[in-house]
Parts: sequence; structure tokens; C-alpha cells
Amino acid sequence: MGRGDLSPELAPEQIVRLEEDGPAVVLLDQRRLPDEVVEVRCASAAEVATAIRTMVVRGAPAIGVAAAYGLALAALRGEDLAEAERTLAASRPTAVNLSWALAAMHDDPAPERARALHREEVERCRQMAAYAAELFRPGSRALTHCNAGGLATAGYGSAVGALRAAWERGLLERVLVDETRPLLQGARLTAWELEQLAIPHAVIADSAAASLMAGGEVDLVVTGADRIAANGDTANKIGTYSLAVLAAHHRIPLYVVAPTSTVDLAIADGSGIPIEERDPAEVTGRFAAWNPAFDVTPAGLIAAIVTERGVHRPPYEL
Ligand code: MRU
Repeated sequence: MGRGDLSPELAPEQIVRLEEDGPAVVLLDQRRLPDEVVEVRCASAAEVATAIRTMVVRGAPAIGVAAAYGLALAALRGEDLAEAERTLAASRPTAVNLSWALAAMHDDPAPERARALHREEVERCRQMAAYAAELFRPGSRALTHCNAGGLATAGYGSAVGALRAAWERGLLERVLVDETRPLLQGARLTAWELEQLAIPHAVIADSAAASLMAGGEVDLVVTGADRIAANGDTANKIGTYSLAVLAAHHRIPLYVVAPTSTVDLAIADGSGIPIEERDPAEVTGRFAAWNPAFDVTPAGLIAAIVTERGVHRPPYEL
């Protein structure tokens, strides 16, 4: 697949799909974007798990969709399904969409079921984007963190979906994109998606957010989520909590946009959310390093959580 084969609207099956002839789960390699548009073919559930762990595919809803296809692949190949499910479930800890998708596939791991889950997840994104757009005013200048776009959701996007919907309604002036150290999901993936969608944007160093907020350059912050606890505490890419503290200080609303597949009612509050620790070498290979990949933003710092069911404000009854 070449760069020119990708239209501005990344089709869901260009991000992740199951090919029954093979069979294989085929993933757009998000590690190599935006410089190279390359696919990775996974021929077993274990290979899908490795692709999730190494972030060929990343972003909570996209991880869930990939795992659903991974289980369907295991069924097509006659793999031990309990083992396949365990391997996939262990691939990354924080995004609850992973266990949610595997549970949805457990009784009937058929390809068509995985495709339906994928279609429904993209539809949820479109619905919540429409709700989230109502939070923008004409001329809104947004800031976003990490990548919560089509790549992260296997089609359309959550936070970036909200930006798209606001842009289409003429409510968005421009987007500041946190580069998102250390893996640069913002600088590589969100900027690339916004460029494809012709939405004005500027990548900023994560540490530039404070002074830009102080200078009146940000009207709202919009992010995705990896797991939302019952009380609204929200895990998302490391650095989201810092943004939330900054936004509160500057009286700027921070909105979380995520499908209900990201909500974990079994966890009362953020203290129960497992936080992934990744290889310190992602931060620096030269010195000792510490690499927590997510943080938890307390519900009190979130102005509203937007799902496909609408705009939810505290106290949450999701
Ligand atoms: O480590 P990643 O790239 O998988 O982290 C992704 C994020 O933190 C996203 O903001 C989150 O999954 C929401 S994606 C719609």
C-alpha cells in the first residue's frame, strides 16, 4: 500500500481488518507513520498480541477491535481459544476496550461478529463526535493530547472525531497538538490526520501548553480515554493529568470523548486502574529512565465526558 492509497478519510479496514483468505489480521503499522505507510500481517492470535504490545496498533478502541479480529483469527485457524484469549488480554493493561472486546467475542468468535463490533465502534465515534461538537463555539481554539483519531479508534476518531465534527460545523479555528512524549502520537499521528483532513493545526512541545493557555490561546482541551472508572476518573496517555491541572488553573474546560466501551463500571475510581509501565528505553536509552505510559485525571478536573449516549456531567450516571 502506498501513501497515495490513503484517502483523507482513513477507511476503517485500512486501519485494521481480518482477511479470511490466509487467514490474517492486517494492521496499518502506526509505528512507521507518517513517513511510511506499511501494513503488518498477523497470522496468529499471538502475533496480533505482539502487534498490540509493540504498538503497531494502538489507541484504546483500536486495540479492542484488533483483539476481536485476533480472536476470530484464532477460531478460523483452530487455535486453542482460551489460550488465544489469555494471550490477547495480556497484551496491554490499561485500555479496558481490550477485555471488553474479548468478552463480546467470547461466546461466538466469528469473523462477522468481529466486523460488526468494528462497525459499531466506528458508529459510536460518529455519534459522540456530534454530541461533542455542541461544546464548541464559533472560533474555538482547541488543544489535544496523544492521538484519539481514526487510527486510535479503527475509524473516525473520538477526540479527533469531535474536532472533525466541530470543523465541519464551522466552529473550530485551529488545534494545538501536544507532541506527546515519548512516542510522539501527537506529532506523528494526530498532526498527520489533521493534515489529511485539512484542519488547521500546530504541533507544540508538551511543555508549551501552560504558557499558551496563560496567553489565552486555548479555549478548550479535548482528549480521548483508555479507561473511565465509575466515578469519572479517567486514565489516558501520560501528560493528560498535567493538562487537566493546567486547564483548571486557567479556567479552561477539559472534555473527555470516549465510547462506552472505554467505561469500566467495575472499577470505582481511578486508583483501581492498572497503569502500564513501558520500556524505559522509549524515554532514553542512555540513562536510567522511568516510563509510566498513562496517568489518571480525577473526575473533578473533567468538565464533561462525552460518549455516544450524550454529554455527561458529574455526578456521572453512565
Ligand atoms: O499508548 P497509546 O498510544 O495506545 O495511548 C493512546 C491514548 O492514550 C489515547 O488517548 C486513548 O487510547 C484514546 S484513543 C481514542
